[in-house]
Amino acid sequence: MDSTVSAPQDLAGRHIVLGLTGGIACYKAADLARELVKAGATVQVVMTAAAEQFITPVTMQALSNRNVYASQWDAREPNSMAHINLTREADAVLVAPASADFMAKLVHGAADDLLSLLCLARPIERCPLLVAPAMNREMWAHPATQRNMAQLRTDGTTILGPAAGDQACGEIGDGRMLEAEELCAEMIAFFQPKSLLGKRMLITAGPTFEPIDPVRGITNLSSGKMGFAIARAAMEAGADVTLIAGPVHLPTPRGVRRIDVKTAQQMHDAVLPAAAQHDVFVATAAVADWRPASLSEQKIKKNGNKVAPTFELTENPDILAAVARMPDRPYCVGFAAESHDLLKHAKEKLERKNVPLIVGNLGPATFGRDDNALMLVDANGHRALPPADKLTLARQLVAEIASRLGKLSA
Ligand code: C5P
Repeated sequence: MDSTVSAPQDLAGRHIVLGLTGGIACYKAADLARELVKAGATVQVVMTAAAEQFITPVTMQALSNRNVYASQWDAREPNSMAHINLTREADAVLVAPASADFMAKLVHGAADDLLSLLCLARPIERCPLLVAPAMNREMWAHPATQRNMAQLRTDGTTILGPAAGDQACGEIGDGRMLEAEELCAEMIAFFQPKSLLGKRMLITAGPTFEPIDPVRGITNLSSGKMGFAIARAAMEAGADVTLIAGPVHLPTPRGVRRIDVKTAQQMHDAVLPAAAQHDVFVATAAVADWRPASLSEQKIKKNGNKVAPTFELTENPDILAAVARMPDRPYCVGFAAESHDLLKHAKEKLERKNVPLIVGNLGPATFGRDDNALMLVDANGHRALPPADKLTLARQLVAEIASRLGKLSA
């Protein structure tokens, strides 16, 4: 998951019951407790007897900074009703790892230990249940487990993962629990408003690279962080997201479809056929305006006579303007990175590109940074989004786009 654009304290004020059941993936639950706490949540750990075979309550207590519960007969609760009390303040129950056996118990409403008991006794309408399965690939693929997973979904449970890959048993396949950072990001996404549910968003991000010869090229300082943050925010809001990225080394936000390109022409060729199948197009990429007219097949060498080489340039296609010209165009949002007169330039771009919304930011100030400030400019005026980390701004922009889409379809 993309930690480079994570907003701090995304789970502030959230109280999460973290349930551990028996599985080697319990070792990841230690990290998960830390990640959730780092994101601002309070974490109440509840363990089954089998989980205690894999990790100690002492470890989980130290990391969550709270007493760990394991038994429905725990005498620490004055009313002796830990199974009721523990979920009454909780915003969610997350079972990670969830064993095949525990999933089967959930399906049947079995309640013979504290964790299964509290899952059954939780107020179902305001305390959602999320489970992160972790098991051997044969156990995961077994029809009984698949049936149980489908039933859990029908019952309103959110299933996180599992992932495919190397397993502790030495086999390779589906059934690995998601990593702690991925699960934490899933929890953060879970609590975001689903303002773009059912919508498809296409995003360009990063710089382009226009080769001069096999080793050199023309590029710019765009880091891609703003575009990647918008992709993550749109995915959190429930959209189906395609991200077309220039050469950057950022991790792909979970659940986002990513297509890597290098040049402006490649970006254009990836965007144009996809655009009509999307509801929104957000062009954050810093596309090179020009490219060398011809590519030298060999590295251009110093020739000894101190005459610098000259390059003829040719104009790149304007991707945003091309999408905006399409008859069945998506809702188009452009970016303007300027060093001065932001509002003036953004207004000029609004008209020149014929798009309904331009997002302005101060170019040199934002490149490569984790924070930014935005100016939303449309035909009726402008509105500033004050300085914040890029993910927070991306969420505000996504909410703004969702509200504009809502008005269009009203
Ligand atoms: O043309 P200019 O660079 O001033 O406009 C910036 C906006 O247009 C950004 O949204 C950028 O992603 C988009 N753009 C594009 N294709 C280009 C140049 C810019 O999509 N060739």
